[in-house]
Amino acid sequence: MNKSIVLTGITTTGTPHLGNYAGAIRPAIQASKDGHVWPFYFLADYHALIKCNEPARVKQSSLEIAATWLALGLDTSNAVFYRQSDVPEILELTWMLTCVTAKGLMNRAHAYKAAVAENEEADGSDPDKGITMGLFSYPVLMAADILLFNANKVPVGKDQIQHIEMARDIASRFNHIYGEHFVLPEAVLDDAAATLLGLDGRKMSKSYNNTIPLFEPEKTLRKLINKIKTNSLEPGEPKDTEGCTLFGIYQAFAHHHDVEAIRQRYAQGIGWGEMKQILFEKINEEIAPARERYEALLQAPDHIEQQLQEGAEKARAISRPFIKRLRSAVGISAMATGR
Ligand code: TRP
Repeated sequence: MNKSIVLTGITTTGTPHLGNYAGAIRPAIQASKDGHVWPFYFLADYHALIKCNEPARVKQSSLEIAATWLALGLDTSNAVFYRQSDVPEILELTWMLTCVTAKGLMNRAHAYKAAVAENEEADGSDPDKGITMGLFSYPVLMAADILLFNANKVPVGKDQIQHIEMARDIASRFNHIYGEHFVLPEAVLDDAAATLLGLDGRKMSKSYNNTIPLFEPEKTLRKLINKIKTNSLEPGEPKDTEGCTLFGIYQAFAHHHDVEAIRQRYAQGIGWGEMKQILFEKINEEIAPARERYEALLQAPDHIEQQLQEGAEKARAISRPFIKRLRSAVGISAMATGR
């Protein structure tokens, strides 16, 4: 088989929002229907533990994220859709990789460095204050996610590129010591994919608390769109599309000719109230059918579980024999029988 393996994971700590949808989920669902790729999409629940100590939240988020992918029409006949924790070979591989990973490489990870910098700014007495081994070695877990399936391409946001580079480093090191077992993965940054701004005009992100959750009921969606911050220009005054949160979101949901028509309306001074109404309708039109399926799926967790179990089985059909081969490569295997 010469299909290119595309793999990506979503950490189960939050509720998917419009930014996740336009930037990552929608293109991934599209790709799941493309016969040239073999997609592996998973719920990164072990990653969730790195930043979240609330069991109920991790559980709820896993349910919501799984329901979201299924409601949006993920093609599970082509895609392998699973929960990380259902594939124990990932953790076995994590240890094998941990043992060839230079500590110095991990010292350079952005997430770890940012946490240290924050401590140093605070009072500096302990630069590692509150930093767990989970956070420190998180890039190794991520490398295991990717390398276990020998993924060729990993679609990620900019903040994750370093982790893909680290996965390549770790894979090369392992290959050098134990033989060519791993493919070196490549990060795929989709420049065309939208980065949406949030309610306050900063990047839409759960860390800024400025998101519009994807499947809010229609009424709440309208309310949230009305809350998006705008400037104080009056109807009739020409407005800038550049850097405008409303326009940016509209662009992620509308066809080119509609976007151009709205650009005209900005020049002519469309009022913010009207623009918000137009935006609401555009988003709702795209989302509404999936929202109904989402609501139904949340009421049918058994069905979701069934899908995940089938996905895990497909994943393990690959990971079980591969981990056996890797164990043997590092010298962990049954005693030789016979003479
Ligand atoms: N760390 C990624 C994020 O926070 C999620 C993730 C975990 C991931 N494992 C992965 C992404 C493997 C791609 C491949 O966005």
